Amino acid sequence: MDRPAGAAGARPASGYGEARTTCPEAPAQPALADLDWPVRTERLVLRPARSEDAAAIWPWLGDPDVQRWTTTLSATPEAHQQWWDHRLDTTVVAELDGTIVATGMIRRDDAWGQADVAEQARGTVAEIGWVLDPAHQGQGLGTELAAALRDLAFDGLGVRRVVAECFAANLASRRVMEKIGLRHEATHRQDSLHRSGEWMDGMSYAQLAGEHEGTPLPATEG
Ligand SMILES: CC(C)(COP(=O)(O)OP(=O)(O)OC[C@H]1O[C@@H](n2cnc3c(N)ncnc32)[C@H](O)[C@@H]1OP(=O)(O)O)[C@@H](O)C(=O)NCCC(=O)NCCS
Repeated sequence: MDRPAGAAGARPASGYGEARTTCPEAPAQPALADLDWPVRTERLVLRPARSEDAAAIWPWLGDPDVQRWTTTLSATPEAHQQWWDHRLDTTVVAELDGTIVATGMIRRDDAWGQADVAEQARGTVAEIGWVLDPAHQGQGLGTELAAALRDLAFDGLGVRRVVAECFAANLASRRVMEKIGLRHEATHRQDSLHRSGEWMDGMSYAQLAGEHEGTPLPATEG
């Protein structure tokens, strides 16, 4: 995560003749665009999203079965293009035999931390998400994409925690989360307003880098 130049570590002069010291800048955190692309899975080729990809995904992103669970419903191709262009930094597309069949999100975020250590918590979490063309669902491609997003977050961005969230009623997405090794962490009772007007349960899943590498979690505190 970028921070304003000079924001970190400039201590005031001590008044005892010491030179003003500056803490070394925290190492820059890679962004999605900095990673090695394309990324290949067994069947998919992933690359960062481009503005012109909006037109390719518009025909299937508006499918009612897809829209049922996605966050944004664009009313027109123009609105869709605007929405797409605002998220290019955090979006990848997945191609199958040269056709875009899915989009994925990897968004670096800050973990919560006490104020005096908040700097060390910056950019240590990534949220991942996915949408697949309905014509290609049910063949394991969603799981293949989600696993690649998880790996990009841990191994590419170097975060210590990956999270994913969904409506509890979105059984396919929950299953994908489980299949890629995310743990169910919370069910939030009727916290999420669906565009149908219904307040639905939401679910959070997560995995820590250590778990990803095979280290079992210690018992929960408390
Ligand atoms: C979620 C999504 C990416 C899954 O893609 P997919 O390629 O069909 O997923 P996979 O084939 O890899 O696996 C889906 C799993 O969910 C299961 N599943 C699918 N529909 C289900 C349902 N209605 N109830 C229970 N399980 C279901 C499948 O059986 C499979 O599990 P299995 O391998 O143990 O049998 C796709 O359905 C999608 O794009 N949905 C719309 C957008 C969306 O919901 N995005 C996520 C928002 S949080």
